Amino acid sequence: MLTNKTVILGITGSIAAYKAADIASKLTQAGAKVEVVMTEPATKFIAPLTMHSITGRAVVTDMFDLASQHTIEHIALGGAADVMVIAPATASLIAKAAVGIADDMVTLTVLATKAPVIVAPAMDVNMFANPVTQENLAKLKARGFIIVDPEYGRLASGKVGWGRLADVDKIIGTIKQVLGRSGDLAGKRLVVTAGGTQEPIDPARHIGNRSSGKMGYAIAEAARDRGAEVKLVAAPTSLPQPAGVEVIRVRTTVEMKSAVAKAVAKADALIMAAAVTDYQPRTTARAKIKKATPGLTLELVRTPDILGEVKGNFLKVGFAAESEDIVVNAKKKLQNKQLDLIVANDITDKKGGFGVDTNKVTIISRDGKVEKLPLLTKREVADRILDRVVGMLGKKK
Ligand code: C5P
Repeated sequence: MLTNKTVILGITGSIAAYKAADIASKLTQAGAKVEVVMTEPATKFIAPLTMHSITGRAVVTDMFDLASQHTIEHIALGGAADVMVIAPATASLIAKAAVGIADDMVTLTVLATKAPVIVAPAMDVNMFANPVTQENLAKLKARGFIIVDPEYGRLASGKVGWGRLADVDKIIGTIKQVLGRSGDLAGKRLVVTAGGTQEPIDPARHIGNRSSGKMGYAIAEAARDRGAEVKLVAAPTSLPQPAGVEVIRVRTTVEMKSAVAKAVAKADALIMAAAVTDYQPRTTARAKIKKATPGLTLELVRTPDILGEVKGNFLKVGFAAESEDIVVNAKKKLQNKQLDLIVANDITDKKGGFGVDTNKVTIISRDGKVEKLPLLTKREVADRILDRVVGMLGKKK
Protein backbone atom coordinates (compact mmCIF):
# COMPACT_ATOMS: atom_id res chain seq x y z
CA MET A 1 0.00 0.00 0.00
CA LEU A 2 3.02 2.28 0.29
CA THR A 3 4.00 1.69 -3.34
CA ASN A 4 4.39 4.98 -5.19
CA LYS A 5 3.03 6.97 -2.27
CA THR A 6 4.87 10.21 -1.59
CA VAL A 7 5.80 10.51 2.06
CA ILE A 8 7.48 13.69 3.30
CA LEU A 9 9.66 12.84 6.26
CA GLY A 10 10.46 15.88 8.40
CA ILE A 11 13.37 15.47 10.82
CA THR A 12 14.06 17.87 13.67
CA GLY A 13 16.95 18.18 16.10
CA SER A 14 16.58 15.41 18.64
CA ILE A 15 18.92 12.58 19.55
CA ALA A 16 16.17 10.28 18.25
CA ALA A 17 16.90 11.64 14.74
CA TYR A 18 18.99 8.56 14.00
CA LYS A 19 15.79 6.53 14.10
CA ALA A 20 14.52 8.55 11.12
CA ALA A 21 17.02 6.59 9.02
CA ASP A 22 15.23 3.38 9.94
CA ILE A 23 11.84 4.91 9.16
CA ALA A 24 13.09 6.15 5.76
CA SER A 25 14.63 2.77 5.00
CA LYS A 26 11.47 0.80 5.82
CA LEU A 27 9.26 3.19 3.84
CA THR A 28 11.62 3.12 0.84
CA GLN A 29 11.78 -0.68 0.90
CA ALA A 30 7.99 -0.77 0.93
CA GLY A 31 7.97 1.23 -2.31
CA ALA A 32 7.27 4.75 -1.04
CA LYS A 33 8.94 7.86 -2.44
CA VAL A 34 10.44 9.40 0.67
CA GLU A 35 11.20 13.12 0.47
CA VAL A 36 13.27 14.23 3.41
CA VAL A 37 13.26 17.75 4.83
CA MET A 38 15.48 18.53 7.81
CA THR A 39 15.97 21.43 10.17
CA GLU A 40 19.48 22.73 10.64
CA PRO A 41 19.79 21.23 14.16
CA ALA A 42 18.66 17.86 12.80
CA THR A 43 21.69 17.82 10.49
CA LYS A 44 23.90 17.90 13.61
CA PHE A 45 22.39 14.58 14.72
CA ILE A 46 22.17 12.77 11.40
CA ALA A 47 23.84 13.56 8.11
CA PRO A 48 21.69 14.59 5.14
CA LEU A 49 23.95 12.28 3.14
CA THR A 50 22.69 9.34 5.22
CA MET A 51 19.10 10.23 4.39
CA HIS A 52 19.95 10.85 0.74
CA SER A 53 21.69 7.48 0.47
CA ILE A 54 18.73 5.67 2.01
CA THR A 55 15.99 7.38 0.00
CA GLY A 56 17.89 7.96 -3.23
CA ARG A 57 16.37 11.45 -3.33
CA ALA A 58 17.59 14.95 -2.70
CA VAL A 59 17.37 16.09 0.90
CA VAL A 60 16.46 19.70 1.58
CA THR A 61 17.78 21.43 4.67
CA ASP A 62 18.24 25.09 3.74
CA MET A 63 15.14 27.19 3.09
CA PHE A 64 17.25 30.11 1.91
CA ASP A 65 18.85 28.10 -0.79
CA LEU A 66 16.19 29.38 -3.14
CA ALA A 67 18.50 29.18 -6.06
CA SER A 68 18.19 25.46 -5.64
CA GLN A 69 15.57 23.92 -7.82
CA HIS A 70 15.10 21.24 -5.17
CA THR A 71 13.99 23.71 -2.52
CA ILE A 72 11.34 25.18 -4.78
CA GLU A 73 10.23 21.73 -5.81
CA HIS A 74 9.91 20.72 -2.20
CA ILE A 75 7.61 23.59 -1.38
CA ALA A 76 5.47 22.56 -4.34
CA LEU A 77 5.75 18.99 -3.16
CA GLY A 78 3.78 19.82 -0.05
CA GLY A 79 0.72 19.86 -2.28
CA ALA A 80 1.47 16.57 -3.99
CA ALA A 81 2.40 14.50 -0.95
CA ASP A 82 0.13 11.74 0.32
CA VAL A 83 1.24 12.17 3.90
CA MET A 84 3.81 14.07 5.92
CA VAL A 85 5.41 12.59 9.03
CA ILE A 86 7.62 14.47 11.44
CA ALA A 87 9.80 12.03 13.35
CA PRO A 88 11.30 12.97 15.67
CA ALA A 89 9.38 16.16 16.46
CA THR A 90 10.97 18.40 19.08
CA ALA A 91 9.09 20.64 21.52
CA SER A 92 10.21 23.58 19.41
CA LEU A 93 8.77 22.08 16.20
CA ILE A 94 5.48 21.38 17.97
CA ALA A 95 5.33 24.93 19.33
CA LYS A 96 6.04 26.47 15.94
CA ALA A 97 3.57 24.25 14.11
CA ALA A 98 0.89 25.09 16.68
CA VAL A 99 1.11 28.82 15.89
CA GLY A 100 1.99 28.61 12.22
CA ILE A 101 5.60 29.76 12.31
CA ALA A 102 7.54 28.68 9.24
CA ASP A 103 11.21 29.43 9.66
CA ASP A 104 12.92 26.21 8.66
CA MET A 105 12.33 23.57 5.98
CA VAL A 106 10.20 21.37 8.23
CA THR A 107 7.83 24.05 9.56
CA LEU A 108 7.68 25.58 6.09
CA THR A 109 6.54 22.29 4.60
CA VAL A 110 4.01 21.74 7.41
CA LEU A 111 2.40 25.05 6.57
CA ALA A 112 2.55 24.48 2.83
CA THR A 113 1.22 20.94 2.65
CA LYS A 114 -2.38 19.88 2.25
CA ALA A 115 -1.50 16.29 3.15
CA PRO A 116 -2.34 14.84 6.59
CA VAL A 117 0.50 15.46 9.03
CA ILE A 118 1.66 12.88 11.57
CA VAL A 119 3.75 14.14 14.47
CA ALA A 120 5.92 11.77 16.54
CA PRO A 121 7.30 13.77 19.48
CA ALA A 122 10.62 12.94 21.14
CA MET A 123 12.05 15.04 23.95
CA ASP A 124 13.13 14.96 27.55
CA VAL A 125 10.54 14.03 30.16
CA ASN A 126 10.09 17.52 31.62
CA MET A 127 9.76 19.15 28.23
CA PHE A 128 7.09 16.67 27.22
CA ALA A 129 5.20 17.03 30.50
CA ASN A 130 5.38 20.84 30.35
CA PRO A 131 1.86 22.27 30.04
CA VAL A 132 2.98 24.45 27.11
CA THR A 133 4.00 21.37 25.11
CA GLN A 134 0.79 19.59 26.07
CA GLU A 135 -1.29 22.61 25.05
CA ASN A 136 0.52 22.83 21.73
CA LEU A 137 -0.05 19.14 21.08
CA ALA A 138 -3.73 19.53 21.93
CA LYS A 139 -3.93 22.43 19.46
CA LEU A 140 -2.36 20.35 16.72
CA LYS A 141 -4.68 17.44 17.47
CA ALA A 142 -7.71 19.71 17.33
CA ARG A 143 -6.56 20.87 13.92
CA GLY A 144 -6.40 17.31 12.60
CA PHE A 145 -2.74 16.49 13.10
CA ILE A 146 -2.20 12.87 14.10
CA ILE A 147 0.03 12.47 17.15
CA VAL A 148 1.97 9.26 17.72
CA ASP A 149 2.46 9.47 21.46
CA PRO A 150 5.98 8.99 22.78
CA GLU A 151 6.78 6.00 24.92
CA TYR A 152 7.93 5.57 28.49
CA GLY A 153 11.52 4.56 29.01
CA ARG A 154 15.12 5.65 29.33
CA LEU A 155 15.90 9.03 27.82
CA ALA A 156 19.20 10.42 26.57
CA SER A 157 19.47 12.52 29.74
CA GLY A 158 19.57 9.32 31.76
CA LYS A 159 16.16 10.03 33.24
CA VAL A 160 13.32 7.58 32.87
CA GLY A 161 9.91 8.82 31.78
CA TRP A 162 7.64 9.73 28.89
CA GLY A 163 9.41 11.19 25.88
CA ARG A 164 11.06 8.39 23.90
CA LEU A 165 10.19 8.42 20.23
CA ALA A 166 7.43 5.87 19.54
CA ASP A 167 8.51 2.54 18.14
CA VAL A 168 9.39 2.79 14.43
CA ASP A 169 6.84 0.10 13.51
CA LYS A 170 4.16 2.05 15.33
CA ILE A 171 5.02 5.17 13.33
CA ILE A 172 4.92 3.20 10.08
CA GLY A 173 1.63 1.58 11.12
CA THR A 174 0.17 5.04 11.68
CA ILE A 175 1.36 6.16 8.23
CA LYS A 176 -0.40 3.14 6.71
CA GLN A 177 -3.55 3.87 8.68
CA VAL A 178 -3.62 7.46 7.45
CA LEU A 179 -2.98 6.40 3.84
CA GLY A 180 -5.73 3.79 4.13
CA ARG A 181 -8.41 6.33 4.97
CA SER A 182 -9.57 6.32 1.39
CA GLY A 183 -9.41 2.52 1.06
CA ASP A 184 -12.31 0.24 0.14
CA LEU A 185 -13.15 -0.39 3.81
CA ALA A 186 -13.24 3.31 4.73
CA GLY A 187 -16.07 3.99 7.16
CA LYS A 188 -16.58 0.29 7.91
CA ARG A 189 -16.31 -1.18 11.39
CA LEU A 190 -14.69 -4.57 11.70
CA VAL A 191 -14.24 -6.79 14.71
CA VAL A 192 -11.47 -9.36 14.39
CA THR A 193 -10.52 -12.04 16.91
CA ALA A 194 -7.06 -13.57 17.11
CA GLY A 195 -4.89 -15.94 19.09
CA GLY A 196 -5.74 -18.99 21.14
CA THR A 197 -7.90 -18.70 24.23
CA GLN A 198 -6.59 -20.17 27.49
CA GLU A 199 -8.62 -21.95 30.15
CA PRO A 200 -6.99 -21.93 33.59
CA ILE A 201 -6.64 -25.20 35.46
CA ASP A 202 -5.04 -23.54 38.50
CA PRO A 203 -3.07 -20.29 39.02
CA ALA A 204 -0.06 -21.70 37.15
CA ARG A 205 -1.49 -23.85 34.36
CA HIS A 206 -3.97 -23.68 31.54
CA ILE A 207 -5.42 -25.55 28.59
CA GLY A 208 -4.50 -23.85 25.34
CA ASN A 209 -3.59 -24.41 21.73
CA ARG A 210 -0.83 -23.60 19.28
CA SER A 211 -2.40 -20.51 17.70
CA SER A 212 0.15 -17.70 17.28
CA GLY A 213 -2.44 -15.04 16.47
CA LYS A 214 -0.65 -14.21 13.21
CA MET A 215 -3.64 -14.76 10.93
CA GLY A 216 -5.98 -12.56 12.99
CA TYR A 217 -3.36 -9.83 13.41
CA ALA A 218 -2.73 -9.86 9.65
CA ILE A 219 -6.46 -9.41 9.02
CA ALA A 220 -6.67 -6.56 11.54
CA GLU A 221 -3.71 -4.76 9.96
CA ALA A 222 -4.92 -5.31 6.41
CA ALA A 223 -8.38 -3.98 7.34
CA ARG A 224 -6.79 -0.93 8.98
CA ASP A 225 -4.72 -0.31 5.87
CA ARG A 226 -7.90 -0.38 3.78
CA GLY A 227 -9.55 2.26 5.95
CA ALA A 228 -11.63 0.20 8.39
CA GLU A 229 -12.08 1.05 12.03
CA VAL A 230 -10.80 -2.14 13.62
CA LYS A 231 -11.37 -3.69 17.02
CA LEU A 232 -9.08 -6.64 17.65
CA VAL A 233 -10.17 -9.00 20.40
CA ALA A 234 -6.90 -10.75 21.16
CA ALA A 235 -6.23 -13.86 23.21
CA PRO A 236 -2.64 -14.05 24.53
CA THR A 237 0.01 -13.81 21.79
CA SER A 238 3.59 -12.59 21.64
CA LEU A 239 2.90 -10.31 18.66
CA PRO A 240 3.52 -6.55 18.89
CA GLN A 241 0.42 -4.41 19.23
CA PRO A 242 -0.59 -3.08 15.80
CA ALA A 243 -0.84 0.71 15.50
CA GLY A 244 -4.18 2.23 14.64
CA VAL A 245 -6.17 -0.76 15.86
CA GLU A 246 -8.09 -0.91 19.13
CA VAL A 247 -6.85 -4.01 20.93
CA ILE A 248 -9.05 -5.65 23.56
CA ARG A 249 -7.07 -8.27 25.45
CA VAL A 250 -8.78 -11.38 26.79
CA ARG A 251 -7.66 -14.73 28.08
CA THR A 252 -10.52 -17.21 28.33
CA THR A 253 -13.27 -18.12 25.89
CA VAL A 254 -15.90 -16.67 28.22
CA GLU A 255 -13.96 -13.38 28.31
CA MET A 256 -13.64 -13.41 24.53
CA LYS A 257 -17.37 -14.01 24.21
CA SER A 258 -18.30 -10.96 26.28
CA ALA A 259 -15.66 -8.78 24.60
CA VAL A 260 -16.98 -9.79 21.16
CA ALA A 261 -20.60 -9.20 22.20
CA LYS A 262 -19.66 -5.65 23.25
CA ALA A 263 -17.40 -4.93 20.26
CA VAL A 264 -19.92 -5.96 17.58
CA ALA A 265 -22.37 -3.20 18.46
CA LYS A 266 -22.54 -1.14 15.21
CA ALA A 267 -20.06 -3.50 13.49
CA ASP A 268 -20.29 -4.26 9.77
CA ALA A 269 -18.42 -7.55 10.02
CA LEU A 270 -17.04 -10.00 12.56
CA ILE A 271 -14.08 -12.11 11.52
CA MET A 272 -13.38 -14.88 14.02
CA ALA A 273 -9.80 -15.91 13.32
CA ALA A 274 -9.17 -16.92 16.93
CA ALA A 275 -8.58 -20.54 17.79
CA VAL A 276 -11.06 -20.92 20.58
CA THR A 277 -10.50 -23.66 23.13
CA ASP A 278 -13.34 -26.15 22.85
CA TYR A 279 -13.30 -27.28 26.48
CA GLN A 280 -12.59 -25.66 29.80
CA PRO A 281 -12.04 -27.24 33.24
CA ARG A 282 -15.34 -27.43 35.11
CA THR A 283 -13.64 -25.67 38.02
CA THR A 284 -10.40 -23.75 38.39
CA ALA A 285 -8.35 -24.74 41.46
CA ARG A 286 -7.60 -21.72 43.64
CA ALA A 287 -4.21 -23.07 44.68
CA LYS A 288 -1.61 -24.75 42.48
CA ILE A 289 -2.43 -28.44 42.17
CA LYS A 290 0.29 -30.54 43.86
CA LYS A 291 1.75 -33.52 42.06
CA ALA A 292 0.99 -35.80 45.00
CA THR A 293 -1.17 -38.37 43.25
CA PRO A 294 0.16 -40.67 40.50
CA GLY A 295 -2.66 -39.65 38.15
CA LEU A 296 -4.99 -36.69 37.79
CA THR A 297 -8.34 -36.49 36.07
CA LEU A 298 -9.61 -33.12 34.89
CA GLU A 299 -13.30 -32.70 34.27
CA LEU A 300 -13.91 -30.57 31.20
CA VAL A 301 -17.02 -28.82 29.96
CA ARG A 302 -17.75 -27.20 26.59
CA THR A 303 -16.91 -23.54 26.11
CA PRO A 304 -19.59 -21.28 24.65
CA ASP A 305 -19.74 -21.09 20.84
CA ILE A 306 -18.99 -17.40 20.33
CA LEU A 307 -19.63 -17.26 16.60
CA GLY A 308 -22.68 -19.50 16.74
CA GLU A 309 -24.33 -17.49 19.48
CA VAL A 310 -23.45 -13.88 18.66
CA LYS A 311 -26.41 -11.93 17.26
CA GLY A 312 -26.64 -8.85 15.11
CA ASN A 313 -26.84 -7.48 11.61
CA PHE A 314 -23.24 -7.89 10.46
CA LEU A 315 -21.32 -10.23 8.21
CA LYS A 316 -20.01 -13.29 9.99
CA VAL A 317 -16.76 -14.83 8.87
CA GLY A 318 -15.45 -17.96 10.54
CA PHE A 319 -12.36 -20.12 10.27
CA ALA A 320 -12.23 -23.87 10.18
CA ALA A 321 -9.02 -25.65 11.09
CA GLU A 322 -9.44 -29.08 9.55
CA SER A 323 -7.25 -32.08 9.00
CA GLU A 324 -9.59 -34.11 6.77
CA ASP A 325 -12.57 -33.62 4.42
CA ILE A 326 -11.83 -29.94 4.57
CA VAL A 327 -14.49 -28.55 2.25
CA VAL A 328 -17.28 -30.84 3.48
CA ASN A 329 -16.55 -30.07 7.14
CA ALA A 330 -16.19 -26.35 6.53
CA LYS A 331 -19.50 -26.22 4.66
CA LYS A 332 -21.21 -27.94 7.61
CA LYS A 333 -19.75 -25.36 9.98
CA LEU A 334 -20.87 -22.50 7.74
CA GLN A 335 -24.41 -23.90 7.89
CA ASN A 336 -24.46 -24.61 11.62
CA LYS A 337 -23.08 -21.25 12.63
CA GLN A 338 -25.07 -19.35 9.99
CA LEU A 339 -21.95 -17.74 8.52
CA ASP A 340 -21.56 -15.64 5.40
CA LEU A 341 -18.04 -16.87 4.73
CA ILE A 342 -15.79 -19.58 6.09
CA VAL A 343 -12.05 -19.84 5.63
CA ALA A 344 -10.93 -23.45 5.75
CA ASN A 345 -7.40 -24.22 6.77
CA ASP A 346 -5.65 -27.50 6.07
CA ILE A 347 -3.62 -27.89 9.27
CA THR A 348 -1.83 -30.97 7.94
CA ASP A 349 0.03 -28.67 5.51
CA LYS A 350 3.24 -27.65 7.27
CA LYS A 351 3.54 -24.37 5.39
CA GLY A 352 0.06 -23.28 6.46
CA GLY A 353 -1.65 -22.98 9.81
CA PHE A 354 -0.13 -22.65 13.25
CA GLY A 355 2.80 -20.37 13.94
CA VAL A 356 4.07 -19.84 10.41
CA ASP A 357 3.77 -16.72 8.24
CA THR A 358 2.07 -18.49 5.34
CA ASN A 359 -1.28 -20.14 4.92
CA LYS A 360 -3.11 -22.29 2.41
CA VAL A 361 -6.85 -21.80 2.62
CA THR A 362 -10.11 -22.40 0.84
CA ILE A 363 -12.75 -19.69 1.12
CA ILE A 364 -16.34 -20.90 0.99
CA SER A 365 -19.31 -18.55 0.88
CA ARG A 366 -22.92 -18.96 1.89
CA ASP A 367 -23.95 -19.35 -1.77
CA GLY A 368 -21.69 -22.42 -2.03
CA LYS A 369 -18.86 -20.84 -4.05
CA VAL A 370 -15.55 -22.56 -3.25
CA GLU A 371 -12.35 -20.57 -3.84
CA LYS A 372 -9.16 -22.57 -3.34
CA LEU A 373 -6.14 -20.32 -2.83
CA PRO A 374 -2.50 -21.26 -3.31
CA LEU A 375 0.08 -20.98 -0.52
CA LEU A 376 0.20 -17.27 0.33
CA THR A 377 1.54 -15.09 3.14
CA LYS A 378 -0.98 -14.54 5.92
CA ARG A 379 -1.13 -10.89 4.89
CA GLU A 380 -2.06 -11.91 1.33
CA VAL A 381 -4.69 -14.33 2.66
CA ALA A 382 -6.03 -11.50 4.83
CA ASP A 383 -6.44 -9.27 1.80
CA ARG A 384 -8.17 -12.02 -0.20
CA ILE A 385 -10.64 -12.54 2.65
CA LEU A 386 -11.21 -8.79 2.88
CA ASP A 387 -11.78 -8.61 -0.91
CA ARG A 388 -14.70 -10.97 -0.36
CA VAL A 389 -15.91 -9.03 2.69
CA VAL A 390 -15.86 -5.79 0.66
CA GLY A 391 -17.88 -7.47 -2.09
CA MET A 392 -20.45 -8.83 0.36
CA LEU A 393 -20.76 -5.56 2.27
CA GLY A 394 -21.42 -3.82 -1.04
CA LYS A 395 -24.30 -6.20 -1.77
CA LYS A 396 -25.76 -5.87 1.70
CA LYS A 397 -26.67 -2.22 1.06
O1 C5P B 1 -14.05 -24.80 16.73
P1 C5P B 1 -14.64 -24.74 15.35
O2 C5P B 1 -13.86 -25.50 14.35
O3 C5P B 1 -16.10 -24.98 15.32
O4 C5P B 1 -14.41 -23.20 14.94
C1 C5P B 1 -14.89 -22.65 13.76
C2 C5P B 1 -15.04 -21.15 13.93
O5 C5P B 1 -15.81 -20.87 15.09
C3 C5P B 1 -13.76 -20.37 14.13
O6 C5P B 1 -13.89 -19.19 13.39
C4 C5P B 1 -13.69 -20.10 15.60
O7 C5P B 1 -13.01 -18.90 15.86
C5 C5P B 1 -15.14 -20.04 15.99
N1 C5P B 1 -15.41 -20.56 17.32
C6 C5P B 1 -16.16 -19.82 18.19
N2 C5P B 1 -16.43 -20.28 19.45
C7 C5P B 1 -15.99 -21.48 19.85
C8 C5P B 1 -15.23 -22.27 18.97
C9 C5P B 1 -14.95 -21.77 17.71
O8 C5P B 1 -16.58 -18.73 17.84
N3 C5P B 1 -16.27 -21.91 21.06
